[in-house]
Amino acid sequence: MCGIFGCVLKNGVAAPVVHAALKRLEYRGYDSVGEATIHEGRLFIKKDQGKIDDVHAVHNLDNLPGRIALGHTRWATHGAPSQVNAHPHTDCQNQIAVVHNGIIENFAAIRKELEELGHVFRSKTDTEVIPHLVEEKLKNGLALPEAVREVTRRLEGSYAIAVISAKEPDKIVCARKESPLVVGVAEKGIYCASDIPAFLPLTNKAVIIEDGELVVLGNNGYEIQRINDRNQVLREPEIIDWTPEMAEKQGHPHFMLKEIHEQPLCLRNTLRLQEQYLDLMATFLERATEVYLVAAGTSYHACLAASYMFSKVALLATHPVIASEFVEQHGKAVNIDSTILAVSQSGETADTLAAVECARQRAATILGLTNVVGSTLTRLSRVYVCQQSGPEIGVAATKTFTSQLSVLSQLALNVAKRRGKISHTEIEDLEEKLQQIPEIVEKILKTQEKKIKLLANKYKDKRCFFFLGRGISAATALEGKLKLLEIAYIPSLAYPAGESKHGPISLIEPGFPVIFICPKDETRKTIMGNIMEMKARGASVIAMLEEGDEETKRAVDDYVEVPRGFPEVLSPIPYVIPLQLFAYYVAVERNCDPDMPRNLAKSVTVK
Ligand code: F6R
Repeated sequence: MCGIFGCVLKNGVAAPVVHAALKRLEYRGYDSVGEATIHEGRLFIKKDQGKIDDVHAVHNLDNLPGRIALGHTRWATHGAPSQVNAHPHTDCQNQIAVVHNGIIENFAAIRKELEELGHVFRSKTDTEVIPHLVEEKLKNGLALPEAVREVTRRLEGSYAIAVISAKEPDKIVCARKESPLVVGVAEKGIYCASDIPAFLPLTNKAVIIEDGELVVLGNNGYEIQRINDRNQVLREPEIIDWTPEMAEKQGHPHFMLKEIHEQPLCLRNTLRLQEQYLDLMATFLERATEVYLVAAGTSYHACLAASYMFSKVALLATHPVIASEFVEQHGKAVNIDSTILAVSQSGETADTLAAVECARQRAATILGLTNVVGSTLTRLSRVYVCQQSGPEIGVAATKTFTSQLSVLSQLALNVAKRRGKISHTEIEDLEEKLQQIPEIVEKILKTQEKKIKLLANKYKDKRCFFFLGRGISAATALEGKLKLLEIAYIPSLAYPAGESKHGPISLIEPGFPVIFICPKDETRKTIMGNIMEMKARGASVIAMLEEGDEETKRAVDDYVEVPRGFPEVLSPIPYVIPLQLFAYYVAVERNCDPDMPRNLAKSVTVK
């Protein structure tokens, strides 16, 4: 999740405008920063690894000539954070510059083809194929907008791009597929950006660019056309009345809510992971004698869910372990035949790194799943996969949890194929359902949020909550409980539902709220029994259930519906969404700040 920005000014120097806009986009990533400008028919570029202020201190980002410019702040996905991998990227002749947010899935094939034509690549990024492709098209005599249009037709994946060429120094050409792109219209000039806050201090007139559209920015404003048929699109700017603070959160009152709503986009990104990384990791898992899934907090809950996925889909036994316990519990047993899959959003959690270090010293194989390329975990891992969620500002993990689950389920499917333990039809069905997940999550957010808000109001004063689920839903229950207790400060419990009879049920008294996670899976009969046990003791039961599950609806006090027909092993992704929203709205009702819960930090770097 990078930030892109571009501007065509009527007069003056564009570089300081880009610099200031990039600062407002820095929340989207800060692995590297770069700017490109055009002046007197020449392209000027400054870029380097590091945060904007640090790069500016060395290179002075304001000191570039020209009134047309591009800028980029990077969240590394393909290629480590480094100067050479920083955007803008250029063609062989240094005439064309491109900034990009998104993932080009077919870049490897395109790169090979271009290298065969003699193009020389400098970076390891997927983006660099774009300027070289544009270069080819311009050689054939196309004008820049048409060249970019043709190039986008070759690109698979997601992108918001902005392109300039020293040979056509009066314009920026942008295009969008899935990654966000907005245009800002002002008296002094025109801007393009990944989001509105980037230009909000300059103008409140914004034009939202839709998927499959190309837009040319020039001295006379903007022209939009559809990429497919070149048809012109007429769209007037909207007036944005957000305060700068609201703008940062894209109109949401808190980062946590913004990040909950970003989940469909993040899940789509996880479905675009380069197959070769998953393949490599799956090769290690397939051969492993024993596999430990090691993580803390929410990431541990992802591991717990993953242990059900690996077991049910790939028939592979794995041990989910809380990172801070790993050394005590398994430190002496781990050895050269052990494989550790460490999961950490930040890649810097001290407990997880300590477990990894212990396993490394005993010659175990270390695999990593993280959101931060360049983090310590990526350096310690033999193979790592980046979960592609973009920066998460809210302290409570939300979008990073569902992204982890998506990657882990893809891994489980990959291992399943290799081991040949389940049928092709089952695998294909699961793959198809996985592709539908972003849409399902979108639907839950659209249809259930209002109801969840009302439930939060109804139950906000309860002093304790019980979260129960069976099978893989036990992991979902634990995550729902963690969200509620950490941001709304309500001491809560979560158990595999079967375990509730072995002690915790003694807490139940009339009105005690019990949240059941009950997809219609193999655990159906027993979970109904557990609901009845709770109801018999006067509990208020709130069920996360499947659309149309009338039997459960009749048995409970309140419910939230999740689309039906979802395979059990993927169910934590849709079923955790209502729990995240519930925790969020209860916290807001109780006047707690969900973005900065007390005593917590986003990255826990002490043991
Ligand atoms: C809870 C939460 C924490 C983290 C935990 C591990 O909402 O965010 O429990 O999940 O501190 O962090 P990472 O994944 O960065 O290792």
